[in-house]
Amino acid sequence: MSTKPRLLTGDTPTGRLHLGHYVGSLENRVNMQDDYECFFIIANAHAFTTRKDRPAEVRQSVIDITKDFLAAGIDPKRSHIFVQSEIPAIAELTFFFSMLVPYARVMRNPTIKDEIRDKQLGSEYPFGFLLYPVGQVADILCVRPHVVPVGEDQVPHLEMAREVARRFNQLYCGVDSHLADEEHLANGGLLPVIEPKLGRVKRLVGTGGPGENGQLLKMSKSLNNSILLSDSADDIKKKVMGMYTDPNRLKATDPGTIENNPLWIFHDTFNPDTQWVEETKALYRNGEIGDVACKKKLIEVLDALIAPMRERRKEIDDDSEVLKILQQGTDATNAAAEETLLLVKQAMKQDYFKRTISLSELA
Ligand code: TRP
Repeated sequence: MSTKPRLLTGDTPTGRLHLGHYVGSLENRVNMQDDYECFFIIANAHAFTTRKDRPAEVRQSVIDITKDFLAAGIDPKRSHIFVQSEIPAIAELTFFFSMLVPYARVMRNPTIKDEIRDKQLGSEYPFGFLLYPVGQVADILCVRPHVVPVGEDQVPHLEMAREVARRFNQLYCGVDSHLADEEHLANGGLLPVIEPKLGRVKRLVGTGGPGENGQLLKMSKSLNNSILLSDSADDIKKKVMGMYTDPNRLKATDPGTIENNPLWIFHDTFNPDTQWVEETKALYRNGEIGDVACKKKLIEVLDALIAPMRERRKEIDDDSEVLKILQQGTDATNAAAEETLLLVKQAMKQDYFKRTISLSELA
């Protein structure tokens, strides 16, 4: 058993991961493996909130995302990558925790509201869609982590995890309601009141132009404006060459604008040569350097980031290897989650029997 503090985060398998995921969270995860025992969830049950009719796609995405994790540098010898639906404690905790969340509170979650709007769910979303934030609280609290690195859009879910932990500790562990969050564990509380940790870049723009409101759109697979971690050198070249920049370039009054220009947002985000970036921005503003030259440089920069991922990906091409890694990660997570569930049941006076869970390969 590791004695390091724990970290939990992860993704819903709805496609491959892109550069927005990388700077928003994945990069953090890779760097934090030395200092934390890391649990990375692949939230396959949540994928069914919007893809109940596409099970094969969800299964493929579980494999693809695991490969993206490994390619990005997540080390399965130290970190546990696990499949959500193979952790029974998560489903069980979801039920108990759902009693601690006022019904009206769910509909006030801004991420839920945004998703209903952006994914055009209308009023046709299933009950399980509203349940998923509570499920996410169980995902998190089942390993009682110290930190949860996420993108900005996940902060409302983490706030719910904090509320559930506080309420649980007060109701079942005798924690005083005036106690500060960070004092809960030292005063008999079972569940940590966790702090979100945001990535270096909160919201990476896509390669396309602005949306209807005039603002640049977030990088998102469904908007067809993303650069994937699994893109070939050729894909990257094409995407960068076709990237939106300043539409009014080389007009006498406005030779080149840096602000709100994806080309420069990408250089700022990914180009380690800050001196080049600043000097070239000055040339760009004066119309003294073309888009193509700056795009070529960006292609080099992105390829330097992604080429090592491409190399690592070659070693994990085999899906059965990937499944083995998932089984090990899921086993380790079950060990932690079963312990938490038992402690939860004890606190709630609903501990009746002991049980063990063991996973093995399908015949
Ligand atoms: N909702 C997250 C997303 O779509 C994925 C997720 C599920 C998650 N459970 C989690 C993230 C627990 C952090 C912690 O990106």
